Amino acid sequence: MKILIINGPNINLLGLRETHIYGKMDYGKICALLHEKSKELDVSLDIVQSNIEGEIINFIHGAIGEYDGIIINPGAYTHYSIAIYDALKAVQIPAVEVHLSNVHAREDFRKKSVTAGACIGQICGFGFYGYILAMHALIHHTKR
Ligand code: DQA
Repeated sequence: MKILIINGPNINLLGLRETHIYGKMDYGKICALLHEKSKELDVSLDIVQSNIEGEIINFIHGAIGEYDGIIINPGAYTHYSIAIYDALKAVQIPAVEVHLSNVHAREDFRKKSVTAGACIGQICGFGFYGYILAMHALIHHTKR
């Protein structure tokens, strides 16, 4: 199984940004850990990140015929990007939305996800472990 993790704006600053919310582990370390975990799960994993909406859309388009599942943390685009929602709908690859923080326990504007409706589910509040849960969810989903 081939999975693509797509991270959106400011996720590259994990370990530096608001560590009381997002944790102290830096982005590189989280990626390394996810690559390790993917081997255990027999998943072929690629991880990409962009701070630019159009690039995220291009990553989603590029997944056609290449990946069996997408894990996406669209960062703040979650809350307003109809274009990312449309791209996820267009490619029809099972996608799981992940947020490190519990968006429902924060500011009201974070409680609404525009993009989750184009995904098979959403995982939030478990830090980087959410990406591992999402890998399990995609494996389970494809075995149904
Ligand atoms: C986030 C939650 C978003 O509201 C925020 O804009 C982010 C990170 C998360 O992983 O918790 O950048 O997606």
